[in-house]
Amino acid sequence: MLSRRVLLAAARSPQARRVVVGAPGGKAVVARFVAGEERADAVAAVDRLIARGLHVSLDHLGEDPEDDEHAAAITAEYVGLLAALDEAGLARRAEVSVKLSALGAGLGRSGDALAADRLRTVCAAAAAAGTTVTVDMEGHARTDATLATALALRADFPDLGVVLQAYLRRTEADCRELLGAGSRVRLVKGAYDEPEALAFKERVTVDRAYVRCLRLLMEGQGYPMIATHDPRLIEIAGRFAVRTGRPQESYEFQMLYGIREDEQRRLAAAGETVRVYVPYGTDWYAYFMRRLAERPANLAFFARALVGR
Ligand code: FDA
Repeated sequence: MLSRRVLLAAARSPQARRVVVGAPGGKAVVARFVAGEERADAVAAVDRLIARGLHVSLDHLGEDPEDDEHAAAITAEYVGLLAALDEAGLARRAEVSVKLSALGAGLGRSGDALAADRLRTVCAAAAAAGTTVTVDMEGHARTDATLATALALRADFPDLGVVLQAYLRRTEADCRELLGAGSRVRLVKGAYDEPEALAFKERVTVDRAYVRCLRLLMEGQGYPMIATHDPRLIEIAGRFAVRTGRPQESYEFQMLYGIREDEQRRLAAAGETVRVYVPYGTDWYAYFMRRLAERPANLAFFARALVGR
């Protein structure tokens, strides 16, 4: 069985990308985790999810733009998407998630500043549409720059959300910094292959770190976004909500498109806010490989599709 580490390495390999993207059943298998390649596919998926009582965060795939022009095109896509959501009357329940690398943060020495300017453009478009933005968190080399950019922009867009990864040893301290009123923090386990010096590696230590961070966020004044499919953590979050006397509208659950849809519906039916993270676009490869790495059981499904059966 391929290990998590091999799959995460393959997520960064151009050779593996060529094999997977060119495989006969590639697109069909991807449809399980990605809403489609076009903006219209994304808007249609949002419409369906909202009709089921869910909320959405849309991610336009494209974490490694080749050049600045490509990063500018991704920014323009977000602006167009937000206008389309507004026009369709969907923006109240649908926000966007953005990776700073997709806005060009990794492109040369001025990348961070350019990406920060572009994030401001996306935030302004979201505000005009009446919705919010959450900045995704990437590998550890980008954590400081991502937090600095997002927190600086919060001066003008206080509802700008950030992601914290429980597997990083630094994250409890970051949680303590981000407990203020209105602070939107999405807590995830973390999806990248990080060195042991910086990150917990064992499943149980990551889970314990998640619980410690969750407790801090639930006891704080902010708006925790509990992003996990893990049944134990979802249950613990429910218990923290009761213990801290938090009303259901003061936090939310988040899950990925196509994963544990039964649980998404169950929580929504129980009155919880449930937001589904919906990726779309042609550049699905790295996102897809990270999902395979999380659950190697998905590999069998993928292997069948690869051989076109
Ligand atoms: P875990 O992986 O332990 O899974 C618990 C259970 O959930 C599994 O036993 C299985 O039942 C189910 N499950 C989980 N993954 C599955 C899959 N791929 N297919 C089928 N079933 C699955 N990461 C990051 O580093 N930066 C980010 O910005 C984000 N953003 C983000 C947004 C949202 C809304 C979510 C839900 C997740 C992210 N992540 C992320 C990903 C996150 O770090 C993590 O890798 C995944 O959520 C998987 O971890 P779980 O907490 O679900 O637990």
